[in-house]
Amino acid sequence: MKLLATKPLEWIQQEVEAKHTLRRTLGPWNLVALGIGAIIGAGLFSLTGIAAAEYAGPAISISFILAAIGCAFAAFCYSEFATMIPIAGSAYTYAYATMGELLAWIIGWDLVLEYAVGAATVAISWSAYIVSFLHDLGIELPAAIIASPWQPVQLPSGELVHGAINLPAVLIIVVISLILMIGIRESATVNALVVLIKVGVVLTFIGVGVWYIRPENYVPFIPQNTGEFGHFGWSGVLRAAGVIFFAYIGFDAVSTAAQETRDPQRHMPIGIIGSLAICTLLYVAFSIVMTGLAHYTEFKDVAAPVAVAISYTPFKWLQPLIKIAIVAGFTSVILVMLLGQSRVFFSMANDGLLPKLFSEIHPRYRTPWRSNLVLMIGVGAMAAFMPITLVGSMTSIGTLFAFVIVCTGVLIMRKTNPNAPRPFRTPLVPFVPLCGIATNLLLMYGLGESNWIRLIGWLAIGLVIYFSYSRKHSRLQRALMTQATARDY
Ligand code: ALA
Repeated sequence: MKLLATKPLEWIQQEVEAKHTLRRTLGPWNLVALGIGAIIGAGLFSLTGIAAAEYAGPAISISFILAAIGCAFAAFCYSEFATMIPIAGSAYTYAYATMGELLAWIIGWDLVLEYAVGAATVAISWSAYIVSFLHDLGIELPAAIIASPWQPVQLPSGELVHGAINLPAVLIIVVISLILMIGIRESATVNALVVLIKVGVVLTFIGVGVWYIRPENYVPFIPQNTGEFGHFGWSGVLRAAGVIFFAYIGFDAVSTAAQETRDPQRHMPIGIIGSLAICTLLYVAFSIVMTGLAHYTEFKDVAAPVAVAISYTPFKWLQPLIKIAIVAGFTSVILVMLLGQSRVFFSMANDGLLPKLFSEIHPRYRTPWRSNLVLMIGVGAMAAFMPITLVGSMTSIGTLFAFVIVCTGVLIMRKTNPNAPRPFRTPLVPFVPLCGIATNLLLMYGLGESNWIRLIGWLAIGLVIYFSYSRKHSRLQRALMTQATARDY
């Protein structure tokens, strides 16, 4: 068994041509919308206030720029691979081509943290917002059905109770999984609609809020450090960048739609870099307006900081609209995350590393519907019973790990296949990939020891599955053993 056997680039390319089964319908705007769909969500609407109040003050806008620079390095590397190897497996396939099967498996398994666990995290937030929205309308749901057994819920009376199951979170997972089963075009349409709503509301907030900024809220722009690392001052700006990194997660999910894109060589970089660039501009403007409307100290312990900011304008009617945008935002994040997860599993099953059912395509809808079904059950169960704090930080560390691997992969591929056609080339190699590795490792470091231990634990479970199932079923291993040619493979 060759654990470090890489899957030759020509094999991967032949595979796309020979076995294309997913439907190629997406154009550049669909891809940008998919990216924005996955990016704008809980991070922007919830974490901006917390990070401003606790770590960076008005300089949170600088934190957004810093995190965007880290993501941009990764986005260039993703774009190079997504045009060179336009396969639904994303980072998993890139690792298979550069670092060998074992590492590819590890990354595929790690992406579960980003996509499946990420979807569960956002579904739990979605549920909290829906419950509060219904509460505003005078409708109270019983505590037993709105939270997991480990997550206390505060009743309007102030009483803290424990739930039994988070049913609204399960409901949104079921609805979105059904849309994903019906078709990629339908999923892209739902996503585009939702993206229009949330971007519209974000632009309205910026356009309206900018006229009511009180410049004194920006003084001091970078509050003085309290003496503790990460609490204001420049170290606070850095710490806040690590926290709001979650807000940028998702641009890489565009690469999992490569096999459903009409012209991936031209359109992938537009989708990946375009969605990241648009969201960066929106985030920086949003955070400048938000910390200009209200003093950053007012966002402490506030679940919906945007509502606080709006209360400083005469447009209070914007508040319910913002809530709708937030709920819409969460919906599309879940959609793109579940889409991405099923496509990564699709590639892994095609390679024999996961059971065949994950690569079975519905004859009419042309979607990996069985995979969507399994994910619906698995992610639904996580959303029903897991506490949000646990799943949230796992998502960030898992994503950062994938970014590090993709940046490393670009460096390796430039050495091993220097002449392979690269429709998009990462600029300034090795500088950009090396900066990508360094910044993402730094952000991982900032997430703390407990998350590292969880990541290692998760990967250890993955290794057990690899050695007990995947290695024995790997098509590459079999092909190598029988000295097969690319055609036999
Ligand atoms: N970027 C996504 C969000 O903020 C994951 O919800």
